[in-house]
Amino acid sequence: MPFAVADRFKLLPPYLFAEIDKKKKAAMKAGHDVINLGIGDPDTPTPRVIVEALQKAAADPATHSYALDNGDPGFRNEIASFFKRRFGVTLDPDKEIYPTIGSKEALANFAFAFVNPGEITLVPEPCYPVYRGATYFAGGVPLYMDLREENDFFPDLDAIDPRDAARAKVLWLNYPNSPTGKLATKAFFEKAVAFAKKYNIIILQDAAYTEMYFDAKAISILEIPGAKDVALELHSCSKTFSMTGWRVGWACGNADLVQGLGRMKSNVDSGIWTAIQRASTVALQNYDAIVPPLMKMYKQRRDTFCNGLNAIGWNVRPPEGTFYTWIKVPKGATSAETTTRLLEEAHIVTTPGNGFGAPGEGYIRATLTVPEERLAEAVQRIKKLKW
Ligand SMILES: Cc1ncc(COP(=O)(O)O)c(C=O)c1O
Repeated sequence: MPFAVADRFKLLPPYLFAEIDKKKKAAMKAGHDVINLGIGDPDTPTPRVIVEALQKAAADPATHSYALDNGDPGFRNEIASFFKRRFGVTLDPDKEIYPTIGSKEALANFAFAFVNPGEITLVPEPCYPVYRGATYFAGGVPLYMDLREENDFFPDLDAIDPRDAARAKVLWLNYPNSPTGKLATKAFFEKAVAFAKKYNIIILQDAAYTEMYFDAKAISILEIPGAKDVALELHSCSKTFSMTGWRVGWACGNADLVQGLGRMKSNVDSGIWTAIQRASTVALQNYDAIVPPLMKMYKQRRDTFCNGLNAIGWNVRPPEGTFYTWIKVPKGATSAETTTRLLEEAHIVTTPGNGFGAPGEGYIRATLTVPEERLAEAVQRIKKLKW
């Protein structure tokens, strides 16, 4: 007997990546040497010091029970001291920090905690699809804000109709930005905070890539005076420490928003395994030994790939942060045509920009999650294609 999934799934746009996934599998099956620049998952393993901390913690029976509420105080204290060191921001570890099962979970639960049916959420496009999906699942109505190169990949808050702004509950932001690789400026965050205060809107700033920056340092929105009145920021150990599979991060900022998210979470999950929280504490303690070398590696990859593509006549603005490159397609081609040709003729997997929302048309996204020599090889293969 077929059981239909709930109608809310009908609200989600079609899965645009399915076709490319099919072609990727076919190319691999045919024995081609496929270079996969499609996934945003680090190719380096979790550093040993973190794995060993997990092993030790796993052997301690004190970690074997439910990790309820806002988690391990040792982890929250470490997050607070990291935040002070890194951003100069003081956080109350009990009221302003909440460990999460990665940022994806927190994004979805945040919408359920704060968005009522019919309420508007302001969603930047192109974007990580969860902002849109979480809004729909909560019964909200996404109102899109284009991220365009001519606006430096910032939403034009002045262009939002004041009547829509007055009805909006949430402004989703994501800097360092996926897929455009743009970092936030202080001036933009100041503007966003002033806008949120004017219209009584919550800012949900997704900072999953905040430790992936190459030239200028990425900032936290909580560095902006008054941001704590309106903002919740989500951080993640996933990309920073090559820990995507571990599912750990944290929400921080406004105490009421932290508490509301926690209330939702306590109804749907039972916390993060304490052993993982202890290992993540060790990760933060070893930040200086782990993170700068990783970011140096991504920077070298970025430079090899972007300089290589620009040298053969493509048009790539190197990302300021994240491990994504946001590449303009050749004149006359669409995003889908470009990814298809790259896959079929050069055996390189990329993602069509319009998969992240309509303003992504005209771009493709390629990730820096393969070794430098594979990126150099990708450039050589692309050079042979005629457009
Ligand atoms: C912009 C952005 N936010 C959040 C996430 C989710 O990361 P995690 O749930 O692993 O912290 C991703 C993952 O790719 C992402 O690209």
